[in-house]
Amino acid sequence: MRIAIDGPAAAGKTTLAKRLAEELGFLFVPTGAMYRAVAWAVAHGIDWKRANLEVRDGGKIFLDGRDITDELTNPEIDELSSRVAVDSEVRRHLVALQREIARGRDVVMEGRDIGTVVLPDAEVKIFLWATPEERARRRFRERGGDYERILEAIKRRDERDSTRADSPLRPAEDAVVIDTTGKSPDEVFRMVLLLVEERCGKDRR
Ligand code: DC
Repeated sequence: MRIAIDGPAAAGKTTLAKRLAEELGFLFVPTGAMYRAVAWAVAHGIDWKRANLEVRDGGKIFLDGRDITDELTNPEIDELSSRVAVDSEVRRHLVALQREIARGRDVVMEGRDIGTVVLPDAEVKIFLWATPEERARRRFRERGGDYERILEAIKRRDERDSTRADSPLRPAEDAVVIDTTGKSPDEVFRMVLLLVEERCGKDRR
């Protein structure tokens, strides 16, 4: 079974997808972290096309055998990843890799184009949304920093992610859209788990 979770930056996709994957015993695939890994490679002068990119247990990201997960969440990589994600060559490369990872497996995959492009036949598609202000507050609580600058950066990434020509961010026609503004991660998790059980029966497969 494939569960696709899409939505804008800081909508809570990673928290939800990780928890769902743990609950269901599925593989968690954070595709944003894969775009971040390409950005990290570019920043370090590494040829991303030749690098060996792996998603291991718990969504850990390895590049050429090195765990770079903790180096992928900072404002520089936030910005650079949204820039490299506009490049069609990068997208083709990562989409192929994402499909290969999901082949014949139970996965919870999160990103921007999972329900629309990567896994259009996923059994469950969720589109998580929240106002830019709410998302900026969450990021501020998570990472600290300057709230106004965080909000600005989120709006800039929203604009770039949703207006790019190749695979722009938008809900799939058959996605369930959840506005998480004012909802706790727990509430959202329970809503989605219920939905998975409704769609797939109690055995969840
Ligand atoms: O979800 P995130 O913030 O970790 O994603 C980082 C960037 O990667 C984001 O600005 C857009 C891009 N991205 C994408 O274009 N397609 C995906 N499936 C996942 C992320």
